[in-house]
Amino acid sequence: MKVSTVQGRTLAYRDEGQGTPVLLFHGFPFTSEAFWPLLEAPPEGARLLVPDLPGFGRSAAVDGPALTMEQLADVGLGLLDALGLERAVVGGVSMGGYAALALTRLDPSRVQGLVLIDTQATADDAEGKARREATANEALTKGTSGIVETMLGKVLSPEASAAVRDRLKAVMSSVPAKTVAQASLGMGQRSDTRDVLSRFSGPALVVVGEKDPITPPAKAKQMAELVPGSTLLEVPKVGHLPQLEAPDVVREAMERWLAEHASR
Ligand code: MLT
Repeated sequence: MKVSTVQGRTLAYRDEGQGTPVLLFHGFPFTSEAFWPLLEAPPEGARLLVPDLPGFGRSAAVDGPALTMEQLADVGLGLLDALGLERAVVGGVSMGGYAALALTRLDPSRVQGLVLIDTQATADDAEGKARREATANEALTKGTSGIVETMLGKVLSPEASAAVRDRLKAVMSSVPAKTVAQASLGMGQRSDTRDVLSRFSGPALVVVGEKDPITPPAKAKQMAELVPGSTLLEVPKVGHLPQLEAPDVVREAMERWLAEHASR
């Protein structure tokens, strides 16, 4: 784990592999650790840059009730600045994808390509926003154990191994209640980013687990259709986190896509 100062706050990040810089944002409520198979064996040709988002893992938290996707995007841009990188492939899983798309809206000139894994470009409806507020309230009043159990049941398919389940549970349980509340409210405030994808002129790799109940394949198809020439991969039999349940498939897809579309 490396550490930088971004916007005056400590930002911890992983920097693994060699090649095209790939800035990857983790999902909710995880840390950079939720990319462990890829961090342990990075895709050929990729330099993976994976921050612990503010308040998660070892990174300092932000003040305020919500952690917006624009704040996450700013953190990503700040990390690229700190590393002297003009451009990178930018991507993420789920909430991390929302952050990647917010970054693309803020400054598409920094985005060499997009890697969108089990995420979506649409915003929450009124019911979804109410659920975010309920999650934030639950975290702040009761703690996160109930949220962790509920999420764990949704993010992994029933076939996921006990080792993956246990390790992921430890990651989720490490996230402070305040950060869970901030990120939940921030996701509820996110804007629709279909316009960002329609304007994006670079390459895009869209990956989705066949059995993802949170951001199902239809959401991935919708994103891929907005970016001409994008690559869509549906990973059979896995849920919301294919990088944990089918890491070899995701690694190989990234290797092929990088070699074809985004090598330096
Ligand atoms: C995530 O995995 O980041 C979350 O499930 C995203 C969400 O709740 O929208």
